[in-house]
Amino acid sequence: MAGATKSSLSFLLISSLLLAPSLSTSEATVGHNVPIASGLSWTFYQNTCPSLEFIIRNYLMSVFVNDIGQAAGLLRLHFHDCFVQGCDASVLLDGSASGPSEQQAPPNLSLRARAFHIINEIRNRIEKACGRIVSCADIVALAARDSVFLSGGPYYGVPLGRRDGLTFATINATLQNLPPPFANTSTILSMLATKNFNPTDVVALSGGHTIGLSHCTSFTSRLYPTQDPTMAQTFAKNLKVVCPTANSTNTTVMDIRSPNVFDNKYYVDLLNREGLFTSDQDLYTDSRTRGIVTSFAVNQSLFFEKFAEAMIKMGQLSVLTDNNGEIRANCSARNPRSMSDLVSVVEELPVEEALSEI
Ligand code: HEM
Repeated sequence: MAGATKSSLSFLLISSLLLAPSLSTSEATVGHNVPIASGLSWTFYQNTCPSLEFIIRNYLMSVFVNDIGQAAGLLRLHFHDCFVQGCDASVLLDGSASGPSEQQAPPNLSLRARAFHIINEIRNRIEKACGRIVSCADIVALAARDSVFLSGGPYYGVPLGRRDGLTFATINATLQNLPPPFANTSTILSMLATKNFNPTDVVALSGGHTIGLSHCTSFTSRLYPTQDPTMAQTFAKNLKVVCPTANSTNTTVMDIRSPNVFDNKYYVDLLNREGLFTSDQDLYTDSRTRGIVTSFAVNQSLFFEKFAEAMIKMGQLSVLTDNNGEIRANCSARNPRSMSDLVSVVEELPVEEALSEI
């Protein structure tokens, strides 16, 4: 990374930290008007792990100062976790004898490998400080919030108390729940409506594309064999240089105006017909969402407010709480069944069934 870019990034990180309302969730934080799911709370670890948010923030700052791209990877990881089977950290589970994991589903193949390592590293640090009491799903949600905030975006409170799931979703379920980049607004609106998101939420969440990278294959169908007429000429010409063929393995930034800063420039891109995916650009073509895109392009505070609300909603999709999940000792694997679990299986079931469970 060039020296100038690195020092401006350090400036952004330091000013973000100074502007943070507090290291614990503050009542004044954006988004506190969003209802919270039963079993979650704004102060869940206040007594059991008061340094939780500090540990995460501190570690992420040390990562981002060298590679701010990781912020995008962590934000996308939270989205992919929550949309498939709820925010239960199932996307983190490695495959097992039970079949290919969620990670092997095509949309998850481009999640950044380092995002998974970062989550495990944070988990280890938290366990050292507080014991094994914080779920991987909560860590993913907090890491996504800090990724947004440390890249220049809004700070919002994260209701906590999620438990980690015991199973991962099938490849089919993953495909059915994550919209593809070639989807138009009608498809995106109806897919997200099933998860209770309104058009404002949809446009706001899509603003996550203000940071990060995409592989050529996610959008070359808009370039080859014929160019999508809704794409600006010069933008298309430049993309063809980065992606000389439809199956090029190259990557490019998703927001050409400010690729590493969480701001409202993604919407300015759309107004200029410089959105990367059909799912992005069509939000400006479709009359149901066009006005929302414009309102965010001209008013960053409005975008930040709506993004924070939609993220708090997203972070609560089908959460597991209390005894409905576990606190993993390793975010990539469910906990081994303990002797006491086996004893309870043996006690509860007839002998043959108990043996087959084991
Ligand atoms: C609305 C439907 C969405 C679609 C169709 C979509 C699709 C995609 C695709 C295809 C990529 C590029 C993958 C690649 O080629 O490497 C991507 C990247 C990304 N998406 Fe989305 N996405 C959607 C919603 C979201 C949401 C809700 C968020 C977060 C709030 C998000 C955050 C990101 C980020 C940060 C990246 C860059 C990741 C990186 O640099 O590693 N996306 N998305």
